[in-house]
Amino acid sequence: MVLERELALEFARVTEAAALVAARWVGRGDKVGADQAAVTAMRVMFDTVAVNGTVVIGEGEMDEAPMLYIGEKVGCSNRPEVDIAVDPLEGTNIVAKGLYGAIAVLAVAPRGALLHAPDIYMDKIAVGPACKGRVHLDAPVAENLRQAARALHKSVRELTVVILDRPRHYDIIEQVRSAGARIQLISDGDISPAVAAAYEDSGVDILMGIGGAPEGVIAAAALKCMDGDFQGRLCPDGHEEFERCLEMGLSKPDRLLTLDEIVASDDVIFAATGITDSFLLQGVKYIEGRALTQTLVMRSKSGTIRHIEATHRLDKKPLFRDSRIELK
Ligand code: FBP
Repeated sequence: MVLERELALEFARVTEAAALVAARWVGRGDKVGADQAAVTAMRVMFDTVAVNGTVVIGEGEMDEAPMLYIGEKVGCSNRPEVDIAVDPLEGTNIVAKGLYGAIAVLAVAPRGALLHAPDIYMDKIAVGPACKGRVHLDAPVAENLRQAARALHKSVRELTVVILDRPRHYDIIEQVRSAGARIQLISDGDISPAVAAAYEDSGVDILMGIGGAPEGVIAAAALKCMDGDFQGRLCPDGHEEFERCLEMGLSKPDRLLTLDEIVASDDVIFAATGITDSFLLQGVKYIEGRALTQTLVMRSKSGTIRHIEATHRLDKKPLFRDSRIELK
């Protein structure tokens, strides 16, 4: 089954909708309200997309999320049958505080091709095409940095490693510092720097560290489209999370997962729209009744990477008159 190229634009419209709505909540100090609004906007837009989609990574289980829950059917057609991974608001705290790095994002692949990752942590390493096959999640940090520097034709001192600013990363931060590489610590949102590592000029060379597993799968889908590399290892914390992994079909939950195991298809679509400025995309901007968005949409089959700049007339958008969506 081939995901038709027209679908890429349809999915771009879905992330645009979530971003346009989430952007109204920037700096409002309400991460729950922002998330709900983005989820609703994304859900509403999915009704217009010609796929038979099943959410495999979403807002949680059916009993804990009213929309975009795991297993929910989305789309308005019988074909193609696809798995959908969504994060309508990646960076809820970022939006609540008006910080750098929030995006609306999704990934789509043929049914069964995306890792059904539970909402637990994943240890990750993400790099661009030049470093593909050169780094390994289990290699010492200094060795990975040496290999990456060689592949990128720069010195270790010129590398930038992005790491979530968390106490659990003190050790890895120390190792990167002693190897001599630069570090950019982020407060939240590790999808955009993982994807940015695939752009030579993004200022990001490697993403390392432990973050959400769902975000790992979505980042892996993007890196599949860009011929980059990603490895992950789920980090189930305790018996309950371990059992949850088993229930989701992961027979050895804590083994290393390669990019091809996380995204087991060469026919993947990834779409992301900036909410606030990030490593990847500019955030939503408003000019006299219009909103400007930047969207990245890619399709692994063709390898095409599109950056779409859109101007939206807010008075003409049905989305902005939909009573289900709360706008600030
Ligand atoms: P939100 O779910 O609030 O949008 O946070 C996203 C995120 O920052 C991810 O980008 C990251 O993978 C994960 O949370 C990190 O989790 P934690 O905040 O528990 O360290």
